Amino acid sequence: MTGWKTAEQIALIARAGAILAACRRELNRRIKPGVTTLEIDAFVERFLADNGATPEQKGYRGYPYATCASVNEVACHGMPDDKPLKDGDIVTIDMVVNRDGWLADSAWTFAVGDVSASSRRLMRAAQTCLYAGIAKAKIGNRLGDVAHEIQSVARANGYSVFGDFTGHGIGNWIHEWPSVPHVGKAGKGVRLEEGMVITIEPILTAGKPKAKIGADGWTATAVDGKRSAQYEHTIALTRKGPLILTLPQPELYTADARGPFPAPFGPISR
Ligand code: MF3
Ligand code: CO
Repeated sequence: MTGWKTAEQIALIARAGAILAACRRELNRRIKPGVTTLEIDAFVERFLADNGATPEQKGYRGYPYATCASVNEVACHGMPDDKPLKDGDIVTIDMVVNRDGWLADSAWTFAVGDVSASSRRLMRAAQTCLYAGIAKAKIGNRLGDVAHEIQSVARANGYSVFGDFTGHGIGNWIHEWPSVPHVGKAGKGVRLEEGMVITIEPILTAGKPKAKIGADGWTATAVDGKRSAQYEHTIALTRKGPLILTLPQPELYTADARGPFPAPFGPISR
């Protein structure tokens, strides 16, 4: 299935999204120095099973894990491994939750212990770009408006956005129409219509926004070895505005890039 979803279908995607948000909250507690990304992956798989869900990434085009775990200079699609995370690392955990055949996709960059001021700034800017993009995801706008906003906010903060990695439509499949660019021209591209469900997931770097794919066929590492940060939500386009589905409750986003941003880990951990 592609394209446009009913309110009922959007509610089903939000159920998967609420499980994902609950899992994100658990990860925020568990990610610390000494933990391995394989341990995180195993936790995610168990958490999803306990919540009647499955990790859609596992087996997708032969990808072997429930999560992508991208540490420091890995821009995205890193594979979990048995190397303990170190104090000062940053790690992006990306997952797609399948609940009753409906999928929700979200990635989040976490700080491991105490991270440098420059990494914290990068993470903050990446979150700001995500919400700047979401704020532009209004019916009648075009995908180029979303992309241009993300790119402009990144640039204003001194960062670049990886152009090779895009968001996507989502529903019963991980990658549905349309592809959602994070770099582009205002006024261009697919027009946003009611009932579209898409991901927005810009990856920001202070360096060169270019990555090369490793021998495993997945791991995308920054060519200049610099760190990157990525935040991703699944959103539905509604008449009232963009509705974020990968939060504890679906949340209409009516603020702008200055925020306030929704609580990513739910009210309990905040
Ligand atoms: N969750 C990813 C995204 O945001 C998809 C990862 S593809 C996988 O688009 F195979 F690596 F899982
Ligand atoms: Co994702």
